[in-house]
Amino acid sequence: MKGDIGVIGLAVMGQNLILNMNDHGYKVVAHNRTAEKVDEFLQGPAKGTNIVGAYSLQELVDKLESPRKIMLMVRAGDVVDSFIDKLVPLLDKGDIIIDGGNTNFPDTNRRVAALKEKGIHFIGSGVSGGEEGARFGPSIMPGGSPEAWPFVKPIFQAISAKTENDEPCCDWVGNDGAGHFVKMVHNGIEYGDMQLITEAYQFMKDGLGMTHDEMQSVFIEWNKTELNSYLVEITSDILGYKDTDGEPLVEKILDTAGQKGTGKWTGINALDMGIPLTLITESVFARCLSSLKDQRVEAEELFGKKESIVEGDKQVWIEALRQALLASKIISYAQGFMLMREASNENCWDLNYGNVALMWRGGCIIRSAFLSNIRDAYDIDPELSFLGSDSYFKGILENSMSAWRKVAAKSMEVGIPMPSMTSALTFLDGYTTARLPANLLQAQRDYFGAHTYERVDKPKGEFFHTNWTGKGGDVSSTTYNS
Ligand code: 6PG
Repeated sequence: MKGDIGVIGLAVMGQNLILNMNDHGYKVVAHNRTAEKVDEFLQGPAKGTNIVGAYSLQELVDKLESPRKIMLMVRAGDVVDSFIDKLVPLLDKGDIIIDGGNTNFPDTNRRVAALKEKGIHFIGSGVSGGEEGARFGPSIMPGGSPEAWPFVKPIFQAISAKTENDEPCCDWVGNDGAGHFVKMVHNGIEYGDMQLITEAYQFMKDGLGMTHDEMQSVFIEWNKTELNSYLVEITSDILGYKDTDGEPLVEKILDTAGQKGTGKWTGINALDMGIPLTLITESVFARCLSSLKDQRVEAEELFGKKESIVEGDKQVWIEALRQALLASKIISYAQGFMLMREASNENCWDLNYGNVALMWRGGCIIRSAFLSNIRDAYDIDPELSFLGSDSYFKGILENSMSAWRKVAAKSMEVGIPMPSMTSALTFLDGYTTARLPANLLQAQRDYFGAHTYERVDKPKGEFFHTNWTGKGGDVSSTTYNS
């Protein structure tokens, strides 16, 4: 009997996905560039299963049922291209290559188009959930050649995480790089969620002077509220974790954040598409700022920074902080969905936002109860342009407003950096202001560069120039928007 699917790349994610597929009754053929890795896997974790090894790409191809489905679980970038180049001559028309890495979506666009010319189908799929997700149920976000989906769907939906109603956290996202785009936004939101949690932690630790056990209890309680999520849950575990000397391990970890680039790509795309994705972008910059450790140490000394004590009833502050965190999180998701909407329009992907929320409901790093509410919001209005306008989320934003402002103002007053929570509030203030000061900005542009402006009392699209000083001419520059 031939194999149902081949997987190339036996690092931890690849191995765990293979074991997961095997658990669901699929016969998997496993290949790795180095043969020893194949042997180690077959004699180790894969021992006693139906998994078979392939020591060359030819052997892998020969051992697979047609149309062949070959999933690459290798490092994003050149390695993917190099495997594709080697595989294509060995494949038949209609065969399917799947890239399950964290690939930048323009690469997937390019690969789908190039392989289409050769008659090969290509799927670029986000896979989220880390090692454990891959082993027992990840969130899977596939996009690319739609013809390939019916062949891959049964396997992917079997191995994916399931919601409490047993719906698979995997569905077809859209053409081209849509799957990888949605995974990129997932990661951007992951950056935002993590940053918001760290801001709450710093407010509690430095501002309220709370112990780690107290903070752990707060996160345990928060996890029973609308904030219920994997990231809040692991934060409570982390805060309770003691090093061998009995002290909290988290305080021994150097405060410089790493990043592999998906958050940065999200920010870059937001700038390219003109979407005000402020919270996620702030959280990327917060990681950049954290990495300037030596400069920060010197600057703290230079500026003689004082302790940032927050006075007042601790319990009242903790509840205010919870509300500020929840409201900011709504803004982060609202911005993320705005970005997906713009990308969907620009690329004709026809994204289904309710389905995206469902795919993120389980298995992935940002999984949370909150995503069910997002799904409901898009069920009510599939074209919702701002998540915060949905009645459920609008209610939370309104109820949290006063607490959110107090936390933001206090953080500014005592000097606790909360870039994501404060920028989220600033965004909402801007978004809900019918008249912003951009009129003055337009006047400035016209003053120094004759860039022209539109008038409130004339139809849109009609442009005016004023000779502000009487010295400039009446000639205006041609106007365009980038
Ligand atoms: C996931 C994660 C994963 C990501 C890591 C590391 O969905 O399982 O998003 O894909 O690569 O979380 O990301 P950073 O190194 O950029 O923090």
